[in-house]
Amino acid sequence: MGFMDWGMKNRLSRILKPQTGRTVMLAVDHGYFLGPTSRLENLEATIRPLLPYADSLMLTRGALRTSVDAGADVPIVLRVSGGTSIVGPNLADEGITTSFEEAIRLNVAAVALSVFIGSEHEHQTLLSLADLVNEGETFGIPVLAVTAVGKELEKRDARYLALACRIAAEIGAHIVKTYYCEGFEKVVEGCPVPVVIAGGPKLESELDALQLAYDAISRGAAGVDMGRNIWQSDFPVPMIRAVREIVHNNVKPDEAHDLFVDLKEAAKK
Ligand code: 5RP
Repeated sequence: MGFMDWGMKNRLSRILKPQTGRTVMLAVDHGYFLGPTSRLENLEATIRPLLPYADSLMLTRGALRTSVDAGADVPIVLRVSGGTSIVGPNLADEGITTSFEEAIRLNVAAVALSVFIGSEHEHQTLLSLADLVNEGETFGIPVLAVTAVGKELEKRDARYLALACRIAAEIGAHIVKTYYCEGFEKVVEGCPVPVVIAGGPKLESELDALQLAYDAISRGAAGVDMGRNIWQSDFPVPMIRAVREIVHNNVKPDEAHDLFVDLKEAAKK
């Protein structure tokens, strides 16, 4: 981070905690193309209990203004790309939906967009990333690039993700969000900025999701930017607390799962 201005460093350290260099980001931006995703119908009710355990909150401006208390002490990673929907012709056809002026007004810690590398909209989404980085460098606001694959989930292999992450970092993204995959260490090795992982669709069990977080961290991820595997759990607070143990305290999946079970049982009482 030596090359960075103070404001940029400060915002990044609000997301990537200096004590561990890692982060548990909570992703609740799904509605921008999925509508009222299961368990995210009432955003405010889903987000509120999780806030004390989130190192940052990733969401759109509409979600932020309507569903998060302005007094909440949580760094905001504002999703500023969109313009497509799950029922529309092409998820990759995104543009920038939110100005930098608006991001500054909302006092964000970072802005985020998706890039769709290998798609017919690769060029436009990469130029959007370049524009955001140019503005981000002007105002000291980091840019998180999501290496999105739309509906083409089979693209999530190390060769593709290493290419996508590297391109995003070369254009100037300060953090890259991608998927965990076999050979994930190659993705991290080839990316000169911190890499965080999405959780993806809800896995069979909480233990599977904790294993995913552990595998990513132990192969070099700087953290998670997780959504569905936290708030689609029947016990979201125990789940995010268990994820935190893995990310910040290097706890093994079984041990984190024991904590999840204890907290779940206590929550039932
Ligand atoms: C969509 C996103 C989501 O925030 C991301 O997929 C994280 O959520 P989940 O863990 O549910 O996959 O960036 O493009």
